[in-house]
Amino acid sequence: MNAPHSSLPRRPIRELPDELISQIAAGEVVERPASVVRELVDNALDAGATQVTLRLLAGGVRLISVEDDGQGILRDELPIAFKRHATSKIGNLRDLESVATMGFRGEALAAINSIADCAILSRASGLNDAFLLDGRTGELRPVARGQGTTVEVKELFYSTPARRKFLKTDATELAHCIESVRRHALARPDVGFAIWHEGKLVEQWRRCLDTPMADAAPDAVIAALDQRLSDVLGPEFLAQSVRVDWHSKQTNEFNQPALRVWGRAGVPDAARSRADQQFCYVNGRFVRDKVLTHAARSAYEDVLHRNRQPVYTLYVAMDPTRVDVNVHPTKIEVRFRDSREVHQAVRHAVEDTLAAPRAAAAAGAADGQANAPSLLAQPGNYVSGLGVLPKAPAAPMYSAQPAIKFEANAGLIGHRVSDISALWQSPPNNQDGWAAEGFAQVKEETAKRAGDTEQNPLQPSRPANKEEVWPLGRAIAQLQGVYILAENNQGLVIVDMHAAHERIVYERLKTQISLTAPDGSVHPLASQPLLIPATFAATPDEVATAEAHVATLHTLGLEISPFSPKTLAVRAVPTTLAQGDAVELARSVLAELAQHDASTVIQRAQNEILGTMACHGAVRANRKLTVEEMNALLRDMEATERSDQCNHGRPTWRQLTLKELDGLFLRGR
Ligand SMILES: Nc1ncnc2c1ncn2[C@@H]1O[C@H](COP(=O)(O)OP(=O)(O)OP(=O)(O)O)[C@@H](O)[C@H]1O
Ligand SMILES: [Mg+2]
Repeated sequence: MNAPHSSLPRRPIRELPDELISQIAAGEVVERPASVVRELVDNALDAGATQVTLRLLAGGVRLISVEDDGQGILRDELPIAFKRHATSKIGNLRDLESVATMGFRGEALAAINSIADCAILSRASGLNDAFLLDGRTGELRPVARGQGTTVEVKELFYSTPARRKFLKTDATELAHCIESVRRHALARPDVGFAIWHEGKLVEQWRRCLDTPMADAAPDAVIAALDQRLSDVLGPEFLAQSVRVDWHSKQTNEFNQPALRVWGRAGVPDAARSRADQQFCYVNGRFVRDKVLTHAARSAYEDVLHRNRQPVYTLYVAMDPTRVDVNVHPTKIEVRFRDSREVHQAVRHAVEDTLAAPRAAAAAGAADGQANAPSLLAQPGNYVSGLGVLPKAPAAPMYSAQPAIKFEANAGLIGHRVSDISALWQSPPNNQDGWAAEGFAQVKEETAKRAGDTEQNPLQPSRPANKEEVWPLGRAIAQLQGVYILAENNQGLVIVDMHAAHERIVYERLKTQISLTAPDGSVHPLASQPLLIPATFAATPDEVATAEAHVATLHTLGLEISPFSPKTLAVRAVPTTLAQGDAVELARSVLAELAQHDASTVIQRAQNEILGTMACHGAVRANRKLTVEEMNALLRDMEATERSDQCNHGRPTWRQLTLKELDGLFLRGR
């Protein structure tokens, strides 16, 4: 079974030439037992192991034994393995610049041997004899063992008691050792891992792939990785994350994408208060890298509260010559040749994955139920393990459901969505004109789409029972002026109407502003002059900000100019928000702008301002909605990117399944 990995070409262990030694990042590599574990597991993986077994005593301080079934070490090379700067992995500068193995410095075993009592037992592939080398005495003797290598490290820091004092309790050191193996395990589903402590099996992750990752079919690798993620991080991680798979368009000499980012990104709801489930790998190596973590974080910017930490496992695969792994003695840091390229790739990869509304994804899945955010099993199961999200809807965002005729059983006989959206323009009890206007565009879009549909005889007709295909279901009631209750196939859907509408308005504003004008400048938001300017008593700060930011205000669809030294007049507002309180809108935008430098209203600030504007434009609590309006909002959510979260990262909807309802009422027990 282990033949495929261990049939690696054997390279001799040689001492590196001095000029190469001087090129290698030098420094302390062993800080605690977990550092030894990391180095020894690296070695086992480089040797093509399919199974790695650790045995520890006293958190690794008394004993760390790492056993593998890799290609082993030849008898005559055992003493060289303990020498400083002796390695089989590189031989010259070119090798160093394109290193694809975990190790390359030829330092680890020598460093470990200098601070502990070490022994290597090994039987090389294809040979019948095994040998043990005692690191302290240099004695070499035959032993019995199967193919592979065991390195035993006893009494860490025995000769440096001062360093031993810095170690924490056995339990803490053990936890660090396990974490170290976990990081390896998350990248290598083709290798099995077992950890024993004081004679007890404390962790075991079985091998999920029979062939080495590099040789396996992509689908098999993905399935194996899902299995491994579930085994190591728990099935919740899998259930609450979505698949990331992004390729650069450029290809390398082997006609493969020059850069690939894949793995899984947790849905915003799965975020945690600590950043303890963020795993980044570059060419299979676990790294802590600011470029990667910043890129991943910025992909969540729009859907996650700043205090929350997303969860993810991201694997960046790229040409080894484009990343320098020789920057830190423990190799935990890397330097990219083009860090901007990597940043953008990671950001796009994660952002695109998160953008698609999950309601639609859930409805498309075989067992829709598994994907909806559940109310009881918080946070919910969104996307089944192997489910792939459909591509996010392309612009226009407000297509909703074109030309749907509501069925009699939906209680809305004969209405089209376009008719329904029209109701937003003059709601029966309109205390919130902005919301009405917010949906006027929906009406336009949907009417247009409806028209298109009618002109296109090839458009397939929709199935009769429409609400079956509406992921967020059919609205049935409004609760306390805050929530919309809807019924879908899975049970009850509860929507926070302000939060949901806020996201919809926000995404619309973003789309409008991101359209580039013919001359290449940023497209301003469509603006509508006020017949009678709205004036208000302004502070000197507000007046100064309005004067300093005329161009930015124009981009935001606002015209605010001094009326008198202490009065500002709002002369135009964004069309989308035309019916709201112009003064309130102007004040909050000025307050935001005051915090930013006039010349650099960067993307982030712009989005914050649009978010503030959207909040003003969204339907307010206690505004009574008709069933038609509620349905229009649900359809809009289904068609809007990121609509599962409000602008502040809170969920906009929850699913309470029939099963959960039955559970509440003890039915079927
Ligand atoms: N488990 C193992 N199986 C087979 N060969 C091994 C094993 N461990 C070490 N070796 C051999 O011993 C050599 C020295 O190992 P060591 O870990 O000191 O250096 P390295 O892995 O080459 O580089 P680094 O210092 O970056 O880890 C390796 O290059 C490899 O040839
Ligand atoms: Mg090594």
